[in-house]
Amino acid sequence: MSVGGVLEREHRIIDVGITIFAGAEPEEVTASQRMALLDAIAMLRRHIYLEEEYLFPPLRAAGLLGPVMVMLLEHGKMWPVLDELERLLGDGDFAATAELCRNLLEQLAAHNLKEERILYPQAEDLLTAGDLDELNELLASAEMPSGWACSGVAVD
Ligand SMILES: [Fe+2]
Ligand SMILES: [Fe+2]
Repeated sequence: MSVGGVLEREHRIIDVGITIFAGAEPEEVTASQRMALLDAIAMLRRHIYLEEEYLFPPLRAAGLLGPVMVMLLEHGKMWPVLDELERLLGDGDFAATAELCRNLLEQLAAHNLKEERILYPQAEDLLTAGDLDELNELLASAEMPSGWACSGVAVD
């Protein structure tokens, strides 16, 4: 599968986990609904890490400055939402958690559409075969380094 195809599949899987909690009854949240959300949060953090460290730099180098900047800014808005979701979940404030899940799904819908229509197709054309191979391997096996955080800005 192409790098873009794998990243798109991750978008769908992450959406499912967040959607499960967004539709939960706050009074009757189950352990599996909590786990679905925690898994989706972890997967989204890793997805953002791989995009920012391995996909966006070569796209930027190839001239896609504007689209990459927009994606970085949007990641920067989502990242604190993930922290807040974990905090709310830990506090047992499930109504607020579900509401924030719905907000995050809206952010992701707009963000993912742009990546899937603009950035991912360009990746197949602009990245070298070596870069694409490396990214495919990382997507299959890499873990986000502990303490890695999205800065929300481009750093050279
Ligand atoms: Fe992204
Ligand atoms: Fe993405």
